[in-house]
Amino acid sequence: MKKVVGLIGSLRKESINRVVFNEYRELSKAHFEMVEGEIKNIPLYNEDLDSKCEPVSDLAQIINESDGVIFFSPEYNYSIPGVLKNALDWLSRDPSKPFDNKIAAIIGATPGGIGTARMQYHLRQVGVFLNINFLNKPEVMIGGANDKIKGGCITDQATKEFLMKHIKVFSETLK
Ligand SMILES: Cc1cc2nc3c(=O)[nH]c(=O)nc-3n(C[C@H](O)[C@H](O)[C@H](O)COP(=O)(O)O)c2cc1C
Repeated sequence: MKKVVGLIGSLRKESINRVVFNEYRELSKAHFEMVEGEIKNIPLYNEDLDSKCEPVSDLAQIINESDGVIFFSPEYNYSIPGVLKNALDWLSRDPSKPFDNKIAAIIGATPGGIGTARMQYHLRQVGVFLNINFLNKPEVMIGGANDKIKGGCITDQATKEFLMKHIKVFSETLK
């Protein structure tokens, strides 16, 4: 079975993007196996520490051994949250080049109306340099998330159905 790494761009316990990751992992079980690639132990990037960071080399290995990556991330100040960008900066320096030609997708949830679109397009731009092979469509931008995600679950059926559609397309892309 194909293996997909989820990278979550929020460290907080009650993260709605983590809820989406959890639901997506459940919904995709028949298509591929999902594991979380943890970024919470990665320190702030400092070139003096280059190539001496265990959480980064561990994560790079998990990504290298996977068939694809999915980012589940909020938008911060119209862009990529610092914790996620920091992890990408570290991973970009790993000699194994974990993102090179890697199939990937972006999913984001926000209580706001624009559904993390600005973060997603900034992430796609970063992916050009990393040579990430991003799926273009369907785009998953979950706006108005406070009405769709409650009590740690996605309560909106249409959102779940849309995630299922994404899962089918993404699993086809992995073949
Ligand atoms: C520093 C900061 C910046 C934010 N900027 C945006 C933003 O630009 N666009 C947006 O839709 N929401 C923004 N938000 C609101 C987040 O979408 C909201 O806090 C969301 O729940 C964060 O995702 P999480 O629940 O997965 O942690 C921001 C929140 C924080 C803390």
